[in-house]
Amino acid sequence: MTINKTASSYLLLTALVFSFAGCQEAKSPIPKDDATAANTAADSDEGLTEPEASEQSEDTETTDTRTEKVAPVVADENAVPEKSTATDEGTASNKVMLGSPELTAGIPGSGPVTMEEIKVWLDDPKNHEVLEIELPLGLNAGAGQIKGLEENPLTRAKIELGRQLYFDPRLSSDTSVSCASCHHPDEGFAKKTQFGEGIGGQKGGRNSPASYNRILSDAQFWDGRAASLEEQAKGPIQNPIEMGNTHEACVECLKAVPAYELQINKIFGEFSIDAVAKAIASFERALVTGPSPFDYYDRFSRMEQLDPDELKEDDPELYATYVTAKADAEAHPMSESAKRGKEIFFGVKGGCTACHVGPNLTDEKYHNLGVGMDKEKPDIGREEVTKDEKDRGAFKTPTIRNVALTPPYMHDGSQKTLLEVVEWYDKGGHTNPHLSDKIKKLNLTDQEKADLVAFMEACTGEFPKVETERLPE
Ligand code: HEC
Ligand code: HEC
Repeated sequence: MTINKTASSYLLLTALVFSFAGCQEAKSPIPKDDATAANTAADSDEGLTEPEASEQSEDTETTDTRTEKVAPVVADENAVPEKSTATDEGTASNKVMLGSPELTAGIPGSGPVTMEEIKVWLDDPKNHEVLEIELPLGLNAGAGQIKGLEENPLTRAKIELGRQLYFDPRLSSDTSVSCASCHHPDEGFAKKTQFGEGIGGQKGGRNSPASYNRILSDAQFWDGRAASLEEQAKGPIQNPIEMGNTHEACVECLKAVPAYELQINKIFGEFSIDAVAKAIASFERALVTGPSPFDYYDRFSRMEQLDPDELKEDDPELYATYVTAKADAEAHPMSESAKRGKEIFFGVKGGCTACHVGPNLTDEKYHNLGVGMDKEKPDIGREEVTKDEKDRGAFKTPTIRNVALTPPYMHDGSQKTLLEVVEWYDKGGHTNPHLSDKIKKLNLTDQEKADLVAFMEACTGEFPKVETERLPE
């Protein structure tokens, strides 16, 4: 009796939300089923089920197709920034530093974005110029590794439209869940729950990864089943336990919002789910995180041997860089513990850079650390995509940038703290037939474990300023 009453008031509530939002009829949420949740989440991004497996299966740790493109941070001399050219050359309106607030802080103003504001915004040709982008110190070593801009050139208008869509719950079937519900700036563009929580409180079987610094990676998801950010963005909309919508219903719903109708038609020429995905992907490409104490330390430690007095005489330009690098390193210090941790992380002792390497501290490949492999029915991860048993239980290496801000950890959110993660590596992961051969017992002391954690904490950089509230009426 009580159950029926609760159920019917739930339905009533859903109906109310719906008529209010003016969207299509809600589909009944799929009942929660923890046993299959992991697989549902992994399988259900229709259209993504058969990604270019043949091409992507190259990306496992056995093949090194991409290593030449991933410049290890430490070995990269280019990370020494050129003198600030911004003042003279950088004034062209299409040159931007990703992560700077002008790109993601929204159309200036307060309250909902009005049609009037959007018209003025769209009439400004500057907002449709293809942007020439620069990456902040640290990530800039990955300039050659940037993905997706040729297919979907970046403009201010696309980034702003993508921002609105990213925070708009009208993408979901019951208008309760937005991308930000599981990837909110206040939670490190991820979510501090073990699993993503979608419409009707349904849970998937995987932890929400961070949605920043995606511009340096093409294959998305823990198992890399989406070949691009565009493809990824379409997934959650029709995932029954995330946004529970259909692409058709989502397009209909958004079309009914005049500001979206206007923006999408003006920017993309036609209103489609692909246009929605392109805008969201553009916004995500603008979400890059700024230099961390590690980056400042790394840059200066490669200049430390230089003699400032000599430089001043011989090379005033390099001297200016030296002075900036020194001041930045002093203003954002790494603790002694973090410095020791860096040596362990990059050295043979920790061996972390066997996988967490390059400007975004990930090789973008798939490895089995044994996480969750003790379960009766483990999440098979990458194998789902490649259909190759050697990929069983392998997951994409996550970035270490800002990792201190995004607990819990691992694809299943099973580890609560960075220390717990370090303990996992120290014991050599969990033995299983597919364990990566790069995972070995480390025999770290308590101090060394603490040092590794301190180093990872020092990989926290500044977040882009993002307007989260201003959406179209
Ligand atoms: C209900 C929670 C939830 C919602 C809503 C959601 N996501 Fe996710 N997101 C996740 C989870 C969980 C994963 C990992 C799933 C997997 O790997 O199988 C993920 C993965 C991603 C990734 C891949 C990151 C990487 O490192 O590979 C991106 C990017 C992303 N989501 C962006 C979005 C966008 C854009 C939206 C809105 C259109 C969105 N998400 C909506 C929970 C959510
Ligand atoms: C063999 C490749 C490999 C090596 C070596 C490696 N990692 Fe990882 N790391 C991964 C993969 C893959 C995951 C995700 C595994 C999963 O979820 O099943 C991961 C996850 C993590 C996470 C959790 C991040 C998150 O967002 O959930 C942290 C922190 C981390 N590693 C730190 C380290 C440290 C510190 C070392 C060195 C002691 C190290 N890793 C060595 C591949 C590696």
